[in-house]
Amino acid sequence: MLVSTPAPTSAPVRVGIVVTDSYPAEDLDHDTAPVVAGLRARGIDAEATVWHDDTVDWSAYTLLVLRSPWDYPERYDEFLAWLTHVEQVTHVLNPPALVRWNLDKRYLAQLADLGVGVVPTTYRTSVDDVRADLAAFAADAHVVLKPTVSAGSRDTGLFRADDPRALDLAARIVGSGGVVMVQPEIPELSAGREKSLYLVDGEPSHAIAKGALLAPGGGLIGGVYQEHPEPVASTDDEDRFARGVLAAVQQATGLGMPLYARIDLVDSAEHGLVLLEAELFEPALNLHVAPAAVTDLVVSAIEHRTR
Ligand SMILES: Nc1ncnc2c1ncn2[C@@H]1O[C@H](COP(=O)(O)OP(=O)(O)O)[C@@H](O)[C@H]1O
Ligand SMILES: [Mg+2]
Repeated sequence: MLVSTPAPTSAPVRVGIVVTDSYPAEDLDHDTAPVVAGLRARGIDAEATVWHDDTVDWSAYTLLVLRSPWDYPERYDEFLAWLTHVEQVTHVLNPPALVRWNLDKRYLAQLADLGVGVVPTTYRTSVDDVRADLAAFAADAHVVLKPTVSAGSRDTGLFRADDPRALDLAARIVGSGGVVMVQPEIPELSAGREKSLYLVDGEPSHAIAKGALLAPGGGLIGGVYQEHPEPVASTDDEDRFARGVLAAVQQATGLGMPLYARIDLVDSAEHGLVLLEAELFEPALNLHVAPAAVTDLVVSAIEHRTR
């Protein structure tokens, strides 16, 4: 007798690209559409999913890729609760443990301890401590104040060290339960020479320059947060630096290589190559200004992680 055994069925691969449902016109998500299209072209059931959509069954996904949930700072506790939920029911990248580590820029101090060059920073929980820091600068020196939990230059200000508005900002950050970062102004940043290097599975893929953002005296150039990403080449030194940052991240966290990373750095005359932030959570990849091959690289990396 011929017994037919059913072919082993594996659950179909389903990838959710985690986004939100609205973006300001000056800060659009240019990455999700080409990534979803690229995954579908490879036969993967991929779609964009809004992180705060209550109707979604997150366990139905093989993999969730955090990409542009850019309204999370306004819904911080809700976002953290969502992250805790989804990591229990499916695979999430970059890993939630890495995201939580990356949400508070005090990770910069850990990376500095591991030998990474970072912008000199103090972390202050009282306005008096900030006042003392500012008093140690020359009165006409410029400083930058920002909270340790921020994105999109929120509550980030460039001031003369003796400008009372600097302390107003410090008071606002402390008053909302935050920690103030105090940094000297890096003139190369104000001159628009910040470079963002992207790494996919730890390999440098492309780089952009994004121009100056802060207006002296507080606030943003042009009044709104608007990056002007320009594709640029990265130097061997910068690539090496960025790889070193990711090695230090892995050492600090005990976690594996991130699927994607954006390493923001600047070549400072005074401090050398220094890290401004390592964005391991929701960096815009700027695929719309990158070579087409970069989209393929990202799609391949995601496909690989579904196996
Ligand atoms: N120490 C600094 N000197 C000059 N400009 C700075 C400094 N720190 C930040 N900036 C400017 O502010 C922007 C936002 O700061 P950043 O630390 O990158 O925070 P965010 O998480 O909001 O991107 C930077 O892209 C840069 O243009
Ligand atoms: Mg930044």
